[in-house]
Parts: sequence; C-alpha cells; structure tokens
Amino acid sequence: MQIVVTGGAGFIGSQLVHLLLETRPEWQIVNFDALTYSGNLENVAGLEANSRYRFLRGDVADPEAAAQALAGADAVIHLAAESHVDRSIQDAGDFIRTNVTGTQTLLDAARRGRLSRFVQVSTDEVYGSLGNEGRFSETSPLAPNSPYAASKAAADLLARAAFHTHGVPVIITRASNNYGPRQFPEKLIPLVISNALAGEPVPLYGRGENVRNWIHAADHCRGILVALERGTPGEIYNFGGDDELDNLSLVKRLLRLAGAGEELIRYVADRLGHDFRYSLDSSRARRELGWRPEIALDAGLTATVDWYRQHPAWLRRARGGDFQSYYARQYEVRLQPAAAPAATHRPTEKSC
Ligand code: NAD
Ligand code: DAU
Repeated sequence: MQIVVTGGAGFIGSQLVHLLLETRPEWQIVNFDALTYSGNLENVAGLEANSRYRFLRGDVADPEAAAQALAGADAVIHLAAESHVDRSIQDAGDFIRTNVTGTQTLLDAARRGRLSRFVQVSTDEVYGSLGNEGRFSETSPLAPNSPYAASKAAADLLARAAFHTHGVPVIITRASNNYGPRQFPEKLIPLVISNALAGEPVPLYGRGENVRNWIHAADHCRGILVALERGTPGEIYNFGGDDELDNLSLVKRLLRLAGAGEELIRYVADRLGHDFRYSLDSSRARRELGWRPEIALDAGLTATVDWYRQHPAWLRRARGGDFQSYYARQYEVRLQPAAAPAATHRPTEKSC
C-alpha cells in the first residue's frame, strides 16, 4: 500500500506519519506538504533514513504537484490546511486557496487515479456552536461560523460531491480540539505553555467561559487510521475526546503544570464570532470502528507541558520568523489594559 499523507509536516499530520510507519510495516508513506509557516521538517526528523518514507514538497492547490504526489497511490489522507481560526479572521484568502481549491485539486487528481480510499480530515467546527447542552452527531446540520470553519465545510461538501458524482471513495472524519506535542504555538494550549514557560502574559479571550472538547492528537490519529481501514466510503465519523473544559479552567491547569502563577492571565478582547461550545458525539466511531480515546486529559496535558519544556529549540524556532509579526497583529492591541470583558455569547437554541 502506498499512502499519501498531505500536511504530514504539521502537528497532526506528523504524528500520523509516525504512527503509520510504526504500526503498518508494509506501507509506503509519501508526505506531501508545502511547508508553510506551520509545517516543519523537524516534526519528521530522522524519517528520511526509512526506505518506506518519502517527503515531497508541494502545494495541494497546484494540479501538477497533486498529480505527481498521487501517482501510484492506493490511498490519500488529506490533512494539509490552513488551520488557525484567528488567522482566518485576519485574512481568509489562504484558507480558500488551500482548504477549498486545494481539496478540489486533490479530488480531481484522485479521480484520475485508482485510489481505494480518500480520507478527508475535517473538524467539529463545521457544525457551528452549541449552548450549554447537546452534542454534535454526524447528521447535525453544517453551520460553520468562522472563515476557517466555512472553508473546511466547503471542502467536506466538495469531497461528498466527488463521492456521489465521480465515485471517489471518500471518507470524512471530524475531530474535536486536538492537543499534544509539536502543535504550533498560535493555538491556545501551546500558546499558554510557551508564554508561561517564558514568564509572559497569557491572553484569554472574553471571560474564558468558552468550552472546548479536547482530544489528544495520538487518539485522533488512531481514529483516522481505523476510519481508513474499516470505514465505509461516503460516510462521516466523528472523533471527540472525553473531556470538555472551559478555557479559564484549562489555562489555570496549564499554568500550574508549567510552574507559573495565575497573575499571568490577561482577559483580552474576544474573538469575533467566537463559538461558545463544541462537543462531539463519537458513538458511531466507537460502535462501527471499535475506536475510543485512550489518553486522559490530565496525563495528556502533563506530558504535553513536559514536551514543550524539553524542546526549547523547537519552540524558539516556531516562535521566530513570521510568528512575531502575527503575534503583534493579533495581540498588541488586545494586551493593552482593557475595559471589562463583554458577556460571552451563548447560542440559545440547540444547533443539533
Ligand atoms: P497544522 O497547521 O499544524 O499543519 C498543516 C500542515 O499543512 C502544515 O504542515 C502545512 O505546511 C501544510 N500545508 C498548508 N498549506 C498547504 C498547501 N497549500 N499544500 C500542502 N501543504 C500545506 O494543522 P493541524 O492542526 O495539524 O491540522 C491538520 C488537519 O486537521 C487540518 O485539515 C485541520 O483542519 C484538521 N483538524 C485539526 C484539529 C486541531 O485541533 N488542530 C482538529 C480537527 C481537525
Ligand atoms: O475544534 C477543532 C478545531 O480546534 C480545529 O479545527 C482547528 O484547526 C483548531 O485550531 C481548533 O480551533 P479553536 O479555535 O477551538 O482552537 P484555538 O486553540 O485557537 O482556541 C481554543 C479556545 O481558546 C477558543 O475558545 C479560543 C480561545 N483562545 C485562543 C487563543 C489562541 C483564547 O482565549 N486565547 C488565545 O490566545
């Protein structure tokens, strides 16, 4: 089996590449990645020596590069994306190009090949936002609220159309918020850890009341693998962790683990259109694929903080370059002393 993993130099993709090479000794893995700001060859360092692994630098939205990457492939696992909600609010252009056009370009290349599976790796954000109650299932309506979520929903619909129209054997997976080692430090958990380790302020949007459903990336990757092997084309599988937590409680836990105090917390202007709560019903994946998350949040967070503590050079490089100007754009104004935070917007109706 030759498997093409797109976005294999990123946070989740690199964990997946390691998992596939370690657990499927017959498989050849092609890592197809453009190495944008969040792609990092350090995440797959050492794999060049493995004869079953090949790195191919290229853009999923480039038809020639996509065709080259998929030549001879038996399956594609598509993770390459612009992945950060705040960047999509600043500018949606790259999100449309990579997430929408890039997915269609890959699907077109897949049509011309002889793939047995095309796994479209998606997100719970396509379902929109929940109030205090309820969970999203695979049949919940799509109601994306951020440009990032809308671009992922568009990609999911294009993948669905490729299955129905052209018979591309598409399986869609949707996961909740991932955490773990090697996550780019723009996302909440690595941002809090890296700022806390450096003794810098930790920005918390609004009142810190928004709730996320956390899953360790290793559990997500095992889900993607079983979806590839046991899933049914044309179907969707949710992968959510067991833990839901409001952001303030999460940040306090992380600060404790990093040995920092709560005085680092700064309540800053809320994210525009900030989704209040995500929660995934993963009973289908449990029932039909035999999957369940294995890493409890406490153990996973402790190990994650330790990983960042032990990899200062990785963190320094990730926080260099473009990151500084992004951080200034995103937080400079927010980190000025602010008026009292506005009330958190909670959807009043259940959206699922
Ligand atoms: P990431 O930003 O860490 O990695 C994205 C990778 O895609 C990088 O290696 C980057 O170089 C590559 N890439 C970007 N544009 C590309 C292009 N045009 N062509 C080829 N490669 C390109 O993202 P992540 O957090 O690892 O997310 C991976 C996937 O999982 C995304 O599709 C995301 O929507 C999905 N997802 C993420 C989460 C999460 O919590 N992080 C949850 C659910 C689903
Ligand atoms: O739910 C899955 C999604 O999870 C993935 O599809 C996305 O790729 C991934 O980025 C993530 O999206 P979120 O927007 O939920 O994650 P983020 O880490 O950006 O934010 C988590 C919560 O923390 C959210 O409520 C916003 C808040 N936050 C975030 C940042 C960066 C803060 O309070 N302060 C911050 O500085």
